[in-house]
Amino acid sequence: MKTVVTRSPEEAARFVREGDVAAFPTETVYGLGAAIFDAGAIRKVFEAKARPVDNPLIAHIATTDQIACVASNVPESARRFVEAFFPGPLTVVLRKHPEVPAIATAGLDTIGVRMPAHPLANTFLAACATPVVAPSANRSGRPSPTTWQAVLADLDGRIPCILAGDRTAVGLESTVVDCTIAVPLVLRPGAISVGQLATLVPGTRLVVGSDGEASRRSPGTRHRHYAPRARVVVVASPAEVAAPTGAAFIGIDSPDRPESFATVRLCRSPAEYAHELFAYFRDCDAAAIPVVYCQLVPGEGVGAAINDRIRRAAAGFFSLEV
Ligand code: TXA
Ligand code: MG
Repeated sequence: MKTVVTRSPEEAARFVREGDVAAFPTETVYGLGAAIFDAGAIRKVFEAKARPVDNPLIAHIATTDQIACVASNVPESARRFVEAFFPGPLTVVLRKHPEVPAIATAGLDTIGVRMPAHPLANTFLAACATPVVAPSANRSGRPSPTTWQAVLADLDGRIPCILAGDRTAVGLESTVVDCTIAVPLVLRPGAISVGQLATLVPGTRLVVGSDGEASRRSPGTRHRHYAPRARVVVVASPAEVAAPTGAAFIGIDSPDRPESFATVRLCRSPAEYAHELFAYFRDCDAAAIPVVYCQLVPGEGVGAAINDRIRRAAAGFFSLEV
């Protein structure tokens, strides 16, 4: 299959309207979209990514009116989040509309819904004239793509179209918050922090491993995620790195002897760190770097999402699941 790279949202939308798939930029990461009521097209998304079929997809909408096409009920908590943060890097999990095919949500009776804050994404979604399910546009298990070139590197020849835009602004995937339970639970931290959500709906909190049933609500957390080929080692400070030769480092604080690393990426803020992380993983892979040291950051704001992704990338290396 030839992969067309286009700058035209209308051209990319034509693929989706005709029952195929197209990758597109959002403010978080690039997504791989298919029309939500077309089970055959959704199957192509899972195949192109080699994504496990038990991992549900997020419905992307162009206008808040479309929520009613994909969800059967919008509780008060979700109403507040939508009002405050749509369009933006937030996914609300709601009860699924019965007409949404089971393959979209991996058989769950809930569905994640998100309205991207990105002009090209919005023009594309409007031109699709339907809500669009879209996971991140990477091969399953790889870091999410923050450039169209990263999409091409993973999916060239496996998808018919990439809508090319700029590098994504946020760099990490959306915050996912389950609003189907009495007190909302954040299943995946992102740029919209748990604190921001808790201001609107008191009690909203981040899922923890011991949440048992609740953590099973986020099937994606069972799979290997966000990982480069390199081994990822999480450190609190660069001083913890004993033998940097040949290794890479990304973080906020400079190592004492940066020249002893193969590469060092210093970020001036957590926002810059979020923006850089997945692209850095891919750069390290291209340079065949064997080990990437990632510095933990304070857990406020987007810091919780950075720490989550680097911990998952580190755990993924040792995980038997792929
Ligand atoms: O920023 C984003 O959310 C990007 C862009 C493309 O919008 N999309 C994205 O999709 O990251 P994906 O499929 O790579 O990750 C979706 C996450 C997975 O962890 C999945 O398990 C979870 O959201 N999820 C989706 N639907 C869910 C549901 N109904 N209940 C619980 N978790 C759900
Ligand atoms: Mg993903």
